[in-house]
Amino acid sequence: MAIRLLIDTDPGIDDALALLLAFRSPECSVEAITTVAGNVGVERSTLNAFRILEAAKPSRAPVVGRGADKPLARSLVSAPHVHGDDGLGNLGELREADGSLRYPKPRLALSPLDGPGLILDTIDRFPAELVLVALGPLTNVALALQRDARRMALLRRVVIMGGAVGVPGNVTPAAEFNFYVDPEAAAQVLASGLPVELVPLDVTQSAILPRSVLEQRLAMCPDPLARFITDMTQRGFQFAEEIGEGGITLHDPVALGIALAPSLTHFESLHVAVECEGALTRGVSVADRRAIPVGRKAPATCRVARWLRTDAFLDLFLNRLCPASS
Ligand code: BDR
Ligand code: CA
Repeated sequence: MAIRLLIDTDPGIDDALALLLAFRSPECSVEAITTVAGNVGVERSTLNAFRILEAAKPSRAPVVGRGADKPLARSLVSAPHVHGDDGLGNLGELREADGSLRYPKPRLALSPLDGPGLILDTIDRFPAELVLVALGPLTNVALALQRDARRMALLRRVVIMGGAVGVPGNVTPAAEFNFYVDPEAAAQVLASGLPVELVPLDVTQSAILPRSVLEQRLAMCPDPLARFITDMTQRGFQFAEEIGEGGITLHDPVALGIALAPSLTHFESLHVAVECEGALTRGVSVADRRAIPVGRKAPATCRVARWLRTDAFLDLFLNRLCPASS
């Protein structure tokens, strides 16, 4: 039976790659997408979700709900320097030789439900079956919990890209972006008792996609999606070069990959909490990794992905996005 997914997302170049991976994966069915403010504001992240749907043309289009326009208790911090001003490498500005827009603005056929409402509604459609994959700040997930924690308890799994457990942060020395943007939401979700599988920077940052590898693969795959991927990733590769990395870090695709194939990682049950107060430590994920008897620690709040079978993940990712035979 297909894994039924709801993807909560702030596209975002790596979010877009994760969505494409999901649409190209026969073992899952994307039932709904909820958008959230994060890499870009929620208007843009919603527009981007429709741009990605337009490019991917999944056989069964998921319902899309616009979610929170700002974190629970703070103003939004976004990441245009990483993802471009529009969140997708500014591909909305690209034009064909005749002057027409290469990617015209898509029609936004939105659910009448907001993001948290659509999460709850999708749980009602697939109780005890739905897997929620959260790829942005956890604002929508926390709001859904505040509205109805009992229904949220019917989620089968909650796979979250976020946090930095044993490595430095990527937005401050200590914090990972998604947790930094909405630490209160991350703290609530981790304390909720939901079956959280945390996919932190510790594992996602090992999945680097070099420009040459993607170019080589896309050249072998005469697929209309290839041009979209090429256009969207230019800004991502540029940013990687600016900060001295060897390619785009596939944070969100790794979380999606683990949602599809948990054997890509090894989980450790840990008590993880999120710091909301600290001036230097806003959004830090604090995992109790002390070598003391388990009974002397607070109970685990989640299962944390501790390493990644990187080559197996990259094979899966490239074979799905750029199938050599297509
Ligand atoms: C996370 O931050 C965002 O910029 C990415 O989309 C990813 O979800 C990585 O820290
Ligand atoms: Ca994201």
